[in-house]
Amino acid sequence: MKTIPHALHPGATIGIIGGGQLGRMLAMAAARLGFETVILTPEAENCAGPVAGTVLIADYTDPEALARLASLAQVVTFEFENVPAKTLEILGGLGCQVAPGAKALAVAQDRVDEKTFLNTHGVPTVDFAPVSSLADLVEALARIGAPALLKTRRDGYDGKGQVWIENHDRATAEAAFIGLGAKPCILEAPAAFVREVSVIAARGHDGEVAAYPLGENHHESGILRRTSAPARVSPATLDQAQTLATRIVTALDYVGVMGVEMFELANGQLLVNEIAPRVHNTGHWTLDGCEVDQFEQHIRAIVGWPLGPTHALAQVEMTNLLGGEILDWGNLAAEAEARLWIYGKGEPRPGRKMGHVNRLFPLKP
Ligand SMILES: Nc1ncnc2c1ncn2[C@@H]1O[C@H](COP(=O)(O)OP(=O)(O)O)[C@@H](O)[C@H]1O
Ligand SMILES: [Mg+2]
Repeated sequence: MKTIPHALHPGATIGIIGGGQLGRMLAMAAARLGFETVILTPEAENCAGPVAGTVLIADYTDPEALARLASLAQVVTFEFENVPAKTLEILGGLGCQVAPGAKALAVAQDRVDEKTFLNTHGVPTVDFAPVSSLADLVEALARIGAPALLKTRRDGYDGKGQVWIENHDRATAEAAFIGLGAKPCILEAPAAFVREVSVIAARGHDGEVAAYPLGENHHESGILRRTSAPARVSPATLDQAQTLATRIVTALDYVGVMGVEMFELANGQLLVNEIAPRVHNTGHWTLDGCEVDQFEQHIRAIVGWPLGPTHALAQVEMTNLLGGEILDWGNLAAEAEARLWIYGKGEPRPGRKMGHVNRLFPLKP
């Protein structure tokens, strides 16, 4: 029998912080490999709990719940990036292994720190400026120009916490800043992208990196609508994307799967938009397009198993099922070549991610 030093064995327990659909699919992947899972979420109604062995309903910084999580799990991971730093401090104090680590979380939680980190490691981004007051914003607009995109530094997702500023007027700037709650912000130059792509990369305990082919992403109202993968990019662009992703996960001494969102410019250059230290919506195509999908890959990485293959077996069109679109499950289920993933969430509120469908086509040469 081949033994892998330091690897967790089937039967071990994996802790997952967060109870959303990413946690649900992580728990399903863990179960497939024989692992037990325990979910920590403050929400009594959550969609990861029903597919996990144990659910702890408590605040993310509840000391008792974290002590219980640490006593049950041999490794703890998370399914969203806004996990409080305090949670990792408490788990660290309990001697609990957490993957990915605190550094990756901290960098991804703050858009200024994120871009500063990326630039320091030779990863290009749009030009940007930190903004903590109206005076900062006026100065940043004078340097970067308008239009420019103002985003809150923290807590934004699905395009929330962002506003375009179309001109240099002080009144326009003030309205934008106040509209975002006068919170610490970042002002970003517009990326003149021809398309948005992403790469899902994994790094193992031993430093091995595996990256999937690129996904081409289409957003509507800030929410991901569709991903086509593998994206039809030149070999040079693919190489550039995978090199950048490898540089990022290596610089963070990262363990697990990361989503790296990028803008492709007309000249083929890639700018990194943001990194997500977790499995990613633009990687859902791998569930049906690859031998080892992003969820299993993440589990493999954090338990110290070898990473799986990442090449595509099919051309996949992933479409998110938002709000009431999920009610069409009957027709989707009857569609040949359509693989349906339903998250088991309650009410289909408008814009809520209720599921996704992967439509498979023969791989284009
Ligand atoms: N600097 C920019 N220039 C042009 N478009 C942008 C820029 N930043 C973000 N966007 C657009 O807004 C979307 C959401 O922004 P993003 O920074 O990824 O925030 P979120 O955390 O909400 O995903 C991006 O996918 C892209 O379409
Ligand atoms: Mg994004």
